[in-house]
Amino acid sequence: MNLYETDELLGQYMAFHFGESYFGVGNYPARCAGICQELMAGRDKRSALDLGCAVGRSTLELARVFERVDGLDLSNRFIESASQLVQKGELEYFVRDQGELGHTGKASLTDLGLDRAGSKVRFAVADACNLGQDYAGYDLIFAGNLIDRLEDPRAFLSSIHQHLADDGTLVISSPYTLMEDYTPRANWIGGYQRNGTPVTVLEGMKEALSGHFELIAEPVDVPFVIRETARKFQHTIAELTAWRRIR
Ligand SMILES: C[S@@+](CC[C@H](N)C(=O)[O-])C[C@H]1O[C@@H](n2cnc3c(N)ncnc32)[C@H](O)[C@@H]1O
Repeated sequence: MNLYETDELLGQYMAFHFGESYFGVGNYPARCAGICQELMAGRDKRSALDLGCAVGRSTLELARVFERVDGLDLSNRFIESASQLVQKGELEYFVRDQGELGHTGKASLTDLGLDRAGSKVRFAVADACNLGQDYAGYDLIFAGNLIDRLEDPRAFLSSIHQHLADDGTLVISSPYTLMEDYTPRANWIGGYQRNGTPVTVLEGMKEALSGHFELIAEPVDVPFVIRETARKFQHTIAELTAWRRIR
């Protein structure tokens, strides 16, 4: 069963993207989109692609500055919610407190100043590893917490340049939580020792992207908190890297 199609994860991600912040940690999708904006200062901002966009907050945030943003995710439930939010302007969701108890949260584009952004986004169900020809020529591609959910991250990294403009920017954030449920050990690009030397996922990404990209900034830590119940939270620190297509 795909976890990202469940009620549980839908509620958690709606709250993560559109609900409260905890322990002083700011909104993660908004923060990532803000860093993308800074990286794109003075560059063309015609179109952006948000891969693994979940319920869409980073897609909407990117649309504050891009003319057009596509948000793609493999989860039907997530994309349905993101699309409904844009259509209706607001959307309620369940926030679990304990056991079956919980309360209703509400995402509102108006409250977040995202009404205008809503008219510039397009959400669709799609596989980031098998993108059609239509998804091409983007000035920016953002993949937030996606690569450690892919079956074959190397294949993804080796082909993603095809969807970017010539000097397009690729931004990847990830806590590198390698799990064999998602990525078979044989497909890991880091997180192991090779001939007694540790290979990190960052090193694996540098290797996989070296044919078409250069790293354009120092990696940045971006923390996030996902609320599971009123008394249980996941506090994670993703690493965000930015790459420019050079060939
Ligand atoms: C850990 S969540 C991160 C979601 C969002 N970017 C964020 O940071 O909140 C991973 C997301 O990637 C999606 N996903 C997993 N594999 C995918 C694929 N091959 N193509 C597109 N989306 C995928 C999942 O459905 C899920 O929404």
